[in-house]
Parts: sequence; C-alpha cells; structure tokens
Amino acid sequence: MDKSRAQWSSRLGFILAAAGSAIGLGNIWKFPGRAYEGGGGIYLLIYLGMVIFFGIPLMLTELSIGRASQANVVGAFRKLGHRRWSWVGWVGVLGAFIITCYYSHVGGWVLRYVFGYAMEAPAIYADPLGYFYATLGLGADENTFFPWVAILFAALFMALNAVVIIRGVESGIERFNKIGMPALFVILVILLVRSLTLPGAEEGLRYMLSFDTGKLSFDTVLSALGQAFYSLSIGMAILITYGSYLPKTEDLSKNTVLICAMDTMVAFLAGFIIVPAVFATLGADHVGKGGGFAFVSLAGVFEKMPGGRLFGVLFYVLLLFAALTSCISLIEGIVAFLTEQFGWERKRTTIVSCAVMFLIGCLYTCTQAAYPLKGIWLDAVNGLSFPPFCDAMEYFTDRLLIPICALGCCLFAGWVWKPESVIAEVEQHGVRFGLKRVYAVLIRYIAPLAILLILALSILGGKTFS
Ligand code: PHE
Repeated sequence: MDKSRAQWSSRLGFILAAAGSAIGLGNIWKFPGRAYEGGGGIYLLIYLGMVIFFGIPLMLTELSIGRASQANVVGAFRKLGHRRWSWVGWVGVLGAFIITCYYSHVGGWVLRYVFGYAMEAPAIYADPLGYFYATLGLGADENTFFPWVAILFAALFMALNAVVIIRGVESGIERFNKIGMPALFVILVILLVRSLTLPGAEEGLRYMLSFDTGKLSFDTVLSALGQAFYSLSIGMAILITYGSYLPKTEDLSKNTVLICAMDTMVAFLAGFIIVPAVFATLGADHVGKGGGFAFVSLAGVFEKMPGGRLFGVLFYVLLLFAALTSCISLIEGIVAFLTEQFGWERKRTTIVSCAVMFLIGCLYTCTQAAYPLKGIWLDAVNGLSFPPFCDAMEYFTDRLLIPICALGCCLFAGWVWKPESVIAEVEQHGVRFGLKRVYAVLIRYIAPLAILLILALSILGGKTFS
C-alpha cells in the first residue's frame, strides 16, 4: 500500500467526515418540504426503504471501489484493471465540479444570513423577500444591480473551504468535521425541542407520523429515491475518494450502515423541526422547500416563535455547518483527482480550482439576480429549451450526471468488477459481510433498473427527482 497516501486517523474521524458530506442542504432544506408533499409519515417510510435497498448498497459499492483501489475517482477504475470504466469517474468529477460552483455560492448566502439574524432580525421580519433582494441583490427583476454582497460572501465561504482542504485529509477535513458535526447535532436537538414545544406543533407532528396513502404516487417514490441519492452523496466521486483514505482493517459494511443511518436521522429530524414549526406559526400550506423557503418563508416562523431570533441564528449556523462539510467533500473529490492524476501540488491545485469554481458560480448567482444568462437543455417534453443558467446547471447534475455516475458504479460493480470483489474487499481481517447475496442481486439487477428509470424519466419527462 502506498504509504505516502493520506489516511483518516480514526474510525470516528472517517464516519463524521462521510456523514458530514452526506448531511447537507439536501437534508435540511429539501427533505422536510418533500416529506410534507409526499404525505408525511408515509413518505418517511418510503424514503427509509430507498435508503435501505438502494442507498446502502450503492454507498458500500463506492466506498469499496475507493478502498480497494486506494485512488481518486478516475484513477480508481484504472487501478482495479478496468481503464475503460474511468468514464464513470469523469462523470462524477464533472458533477462534483458543477455542484461545487453553485453549492459554494448558496453557502455564501447562508453565511450572510447568520449575520442577518444575529444583527438585524427585525429588518428580515419586516419584509423577508425585500430583505433578501436588498442584501444579496438577488431576484430583483425591476432594478437589477450587481449582487456584490452575495458574491462577497460566496468568496468568503469558498475561502473557508479552501483553508480546510489545503490542510489535508487528517488535519483539515477530519478535524473540521470532528468539531462541525457534533455542533450540528447539538443545534438540531435544540431546534427540535423548540419546534415541538410550540403551541400548535402537535398537528404538524401528527402529520409527519401519519400513514395516509392518499398522496402516494409513482413520482413520489422515484423522487424519494433521487432524494436519497443526493442526500447520501452518491453518484459523485465523493465516496470513492473518502473510501480511498480508509485503512483495510475498517469494517466497510458496518460503517456504511452507520453513515446512512446518521444521514437519514438528520433528514427526519429536520422534517420534525420544520414541518411542525411551520404548522404552528404560518399554517400547513406554507411548508415549502429549497432556498426560497429557507431564506424567505422561514422568516415568518422565526418571527412568531418565542426566542425566534436566537433560533434563527442557530438554524443558519446549522445550515452553514451542513453546507461547509458537504462542500469540503465535493472539493476534496476534485482536488484528489487533480493532484493524483496530473501530479499537481495540493495547495496550488486547491486555490486554483476553488477560484475557478467560485468564478463560474458567479454566473449562477448573477442569474439568480435576474441577469438574463441562459443555459441549454434538451428533453422529450419541452424539446430544446434555454432555461436560466442556474437552472440548467442543476438539471445537468441532478437529472443527468448523478444518475449516470450512479448507474456506472452499479454496472461496474455488478458486471465488470463483480460483486464477489466488493464482498472480498469488505471481508478482510475477519470482517463478515452479512447479506452478501442480497447485495449482489440489488447491485446487479434492481439498482441499475431503478436508476435507469429515473434517468429515462428525467430526460424524457423533463423532471427532476434528486
Ligand atoms: N449530500 C449533500 C446534501 O444533502 C449534497 C452533496 C451531494 C454533497 C453530493 C456532496 C456530494 O446536501
């Protein structure tokens, strides 16, 4: 084994870093809204099924590919003797690259809102949408101006990431996650208690525990699968890279289950925080998802909640840690690829790649600020279309690159490298892989078919599932 290669210093460090990658904006501002739309408790159940049947096998596969090869995502396939499958890694790196461009900018806006709630919460409450426009310079159609605050904070956010990455796997990423993740858990618990003790929260809680099948549809099921992939950071180079820093003595299957359990728990907790809080303050039909919901609608929730300002700050700090630890993993996937494949030096590579991604991200922010930049997209429903640049970036990653990379990993592990190799990689140093037969069937047949379905529906139906 290559002694010069970085390694996690402890099991806990790895688990927290991988959980840090998985637990991100997807869990906190996407999941609760989706759970609400999908019927509450019934959606939670379906989501859990998706994590168990698809999330766990795929995460285990990516981690095994990484650990077996001890290489970055593109090099991994070559090192395992299947150079022709390196395209899977390229798709993953490209996906990670595009996501980092916008994830880092959104992270910057979150950072700005930590200050917003800390220093001028009344101004936010007075006019949430106006505040959003005025401070970030985003979305204001009638008087477009350069969104320099949004861009400045995105630069700060990106710089924070770069500092951690430059310090390396152990003293940078691992150490940061060891502080950030426990802090995130503590904040979650505080927010949970606050939310569930609000008068009127029971109704939301009841909704989140209801098993009414009325809202169930085929789309809901597929979107739960897409959500699970995105939330677990599957299909994007990250887990292969993080797995490659694991010592051979680690029990991959146990760690995988633990990471998936943590990610799912945080998503559920976020659901139990947001949905009851919105029910108790603004009313059920105000539950939403995404940036618009987090930056604008939630202001009303904090305004109406006793101690809302403090909880507002805590909520945005929570989002900030979630975004940082995820963004760090995205950048590490890219930097590991560039340094190993091209022999570049880590510090310079980090600085240059972060700068490039930040600059491309500026285009994303500018389109959010109503600059008429267009992207290009093709699907069977709308034909050739020119959506705003920011939407096109998300379509590329969510509808195309993530499913293609995930599918590539399944096909590779199921049919080329073979499930036996994954099982052998897990079963070292006396580790036993419990459900290996089930794993083999899932990775060969069931997972590829499900992903293919998602891919077909996103391209033919013009829908986003992740
Ligand atoms: N899993 C992260 C989230 O839930 C997003 C992410 C995707 C991070 C892919 C890294 C890689 O927000």
